[in-house]
Amino acid sequence: MIKRIAVLTGGGDCPGLNAVIRAIVRSATHHDIEVLGILDGFKGAVEGEFVPLGLKEVSGILPRGGTILGTSNRDNPFSYNVMVDGKMVQEDRSDLVISNIKDKGIDCLVVIGGDGSLSIALELAVKGLPVVGVPKTIDNDLLATDLTFGFQSAVETAQEALDKLHTTAESHHRVMILEVMGRYAGWIALYSGIAGGADVILIPEVPYDIEKVAEAINDRKSKNKKFSIIVVAEGAKPGDGEMVVKQVFEGRTDPVKLGGIGEKVGRDLEGLINLETRVTVLGHMQRGGSPNTFDRILATRYGVAALDAVVAKDFGKMVALQGTSIVTVPLSEAVKHLKKIIPVDEVLLAARKLGLKFGD
Ligand code: F6P
Repeated sequence: MIKRIAVLTGGGDCPGLNAVIRAIVRSATHHDIEVLGILDGFKGAVEGEFVPLGLKEVSGILPRGGTILGTSNRDNPFSYNVMVDGKMVQEDRSDLVISNIKDKGIDCLVVIGGDGSLSIALELAVKGLPVVGVPKTIDNDLLATDLTFGFQSAVETAQEALDKLHTTAESHHRVMILEVMGRYAGWIALYSGIAGGADVILIPEVPYDIEKVAEAINDRKSKNKKFSIIVVAEGAKPGDGEMVVKQVFEGRTDPVKLGGIGEKVGRDLEGLINLETRVTVLGHMQRGGSPNTFDRILATRYGVAALDAVVAKDFGKMVALQGTSIVTVPLSEAVKHLKKIIPVDEVLLAARKLGLKFGD
């Protein structure tokens, strides 16, 4: 019988985290299962920072962005950052996580996270800890699930930005470039580009040729369309170049911070087109704010399914959306590699049939 579980949110935040936490806690009451929250992702698991999570704590949090538990994307217990003699070194603190959890009488750990946090969850599962995962990330780059929660809200934010950029692009006869997040996958760019009526979408999966991008804009201009909208994913790159890295943070789950490709595309278009360009970097706007309707429902379904998996002792699994059903899949399937857009992706092909250009 499961008596007590713990929940943590790991990695970058996204809309819907609180909706998952609320659903877990509310379902747990029906099984007399006590829920503890772990603060700041795996950092709290190492440092032993546990708080009670009851109906009172989750009341009113459904529409709230962020996570009431806090999160971190730099505290992998298998290579935990510690100061030794004034120097930062990495030590394996995974045994401490397991003993902290066992000492508290916790029967299962629910990890709400993306590929970084769920890879850690898998490593803990291999060491014998009962875990259940919930797929979170605005990037939608997790395998074995059709969608992660948070993605649709981020796409909506980007689409609203594109609607606004459209009116000013049209008035000034300019080329507006919107740089969106997504890391090494182009899902946010592709979906928001379609929803926001972009003319060109640049994604990591389709390396671009700047001459082709210019050709698309000049072609529109020759048809009296004196403005264009380009959506560029932060991980996009030219066929003969590399991704633009803004910063490298040592000690993070993924040390590479992307950013700056929008400015590069704008610069490289100069001289190839006869229109002014302006660049907007949407940044963390995509991670903030209230989850949209779709994500509130998906996050709630995931939370309920995670609790069902706990009760069924279906450990080492991640809850996932496949078609219209919520299922459980092995964590190892979810984190095998990142889910990227394949050349025959139906949505990508639909965009191409619509006449959108990808710079290839
Ligand atoms: O994984 C989510 C994400 O927002 C990516 O799209 C982006 O590359 C990264 O996190 C940004 O991380 P940070 O919040 O550490 O700048």
